[in-house]
Amino acid sequence: MFELQATERLRRRIPYARVSCDGNELAYVREVLESGWLTTASKTLAFERKFAEAVGTRFAIAVNSCTAALHLGLEALGVQAGDRVLVPTMTFTASAVVVRYLGADPVFLDVEYGTGLITPEILLAAVERYPDVKALVVVHFGGQPAQMLSSGSGPGVLEICHRHGIRVLEDAAHAFPARSGDRMVGGLGDATCFSFYANKTITTGEGGMLTTDNEAILARARVMRLHGIDRDVWSRFTAAKPSWEYDVVVPGYKYNMPDVNAAIGLAQFERAETMRGRRQRIATRYFERLAGLEALDLPVVRIPPEDHAWHLFVVVVRPTARVDRDRLIELLAERDIGTSVTYKPLHRMSYYRDRYGLEASDFPGAERLWRGCLALPIYPSLADDELEYICDTLHELLG
Ligand SMILES: Cc1ncc(COP(=O)(O)O)c(C=O)c1O
Repeated sequence: MFELQATERLRRRIPYARVSCDGNELAYVREVLESGWLTTASKTLAFERKFAEAVGTRFAIAVNSCTAALHLGLEALGVQAGDRVLVPTMTFTASAVVVRYLGADPVFLDVEYGTGLITPEILLAAVERYPDVKALVVVHFGGQPAQMLSSGSGPGVLEICHRHGIRVLEDAAHAFPARSGDRMVGGLGDATCFSFYANKTITTGEGGMLTTDNEAILARARVMRLHGIDRDVWSRFTAAKPSWEYDVVVPGYKYNMPDVNAAIGLAQFERAETMRGRRQRIATRYFERLAGLEALDLPVVRIPPEDHAWHLFVVVVRPTARVDRDRLIELLAERDIGTSVTYKPLHRMSYYRDRYGLEASDFPGAERLWRGCLALPIYPSLADDELEYICDTLHELLG
């Protein structure tokens, strides 16, 4: 087998993801515990305010997952039973399942091999084929925004959707903080959804945020976030003239973010740009160290590196490599290096495949990407010697 001097040098397990809670997390959570009010209150409001300011939108609504944000967003955009919604196949099921929650049907889009993103060309072809599409869920895969804005080479995603009357919901689960041109991701489409799940770029344990500039979307999502009640509990208890009175105006959901989670989020938010910077340096080092490896294709980046959230670093094991992707995962695990496959595309998941009769041959970009793809550790607490060890090990296994 392979001679692994690298293993001798570093005997530490390197997980695929590792949370950094070395800021004000404990202090802010303590404040919440001492306040006597653990669910949605002042910390959540503060988190919403700061988040909206950071992404440059008028409104931000904190919820208990990105899935909840996607559901609320599509609902507020008016997606209904029988509607068609475009969704890339190279994503987590959350991006598409929310379409089903509303009784609508996802139409799956292929992605570009190098980036994992939909392109304006892919979108245009789908719009021609399905002119009645109601909305698009655009996924900023790995933290790199899709081409939202038009350029010299043609119209971007926003212009195409605008022209065809298609509403745009951004799935930015991977993309905080990230930029498109001179705008932060969060204010480009009709609404944008972020994830604060434990392995994301900032976390609240579980949590999400919906951002928008649109008052109608804000009003609808706010009511639907909390049982369809016309006033939130916190405002009822803190009003100058306390009042028990409230009304249920629609059948809403239970998606509010508790203050304990928002407290963690506020502390993470303070370090979001610092943590992004560290992930960028890790990515830069991966590019330097792995560029010479014939067995791997490295991710294609079409934006300045400082605009990228660098949530994922996805490499692709070429078919000609001396070990395939699945074996490489095992060999890396034996050497204490955690990795992940992001993603097995949705057209390969039995529910979507069988319900919609999906054929792998209709998704050549996603197929080529998924067969070899492997996400490497990229998080702020990944130490330099751990990073070098990962690169050394990949050279030894694949070189
Ligand atoms: C692209 C994408 N969208 C949505 C989600 C759902 O996020 P959450 O777990 O916060 O609901 C994820 C989670 O991994 C994701 O990767």
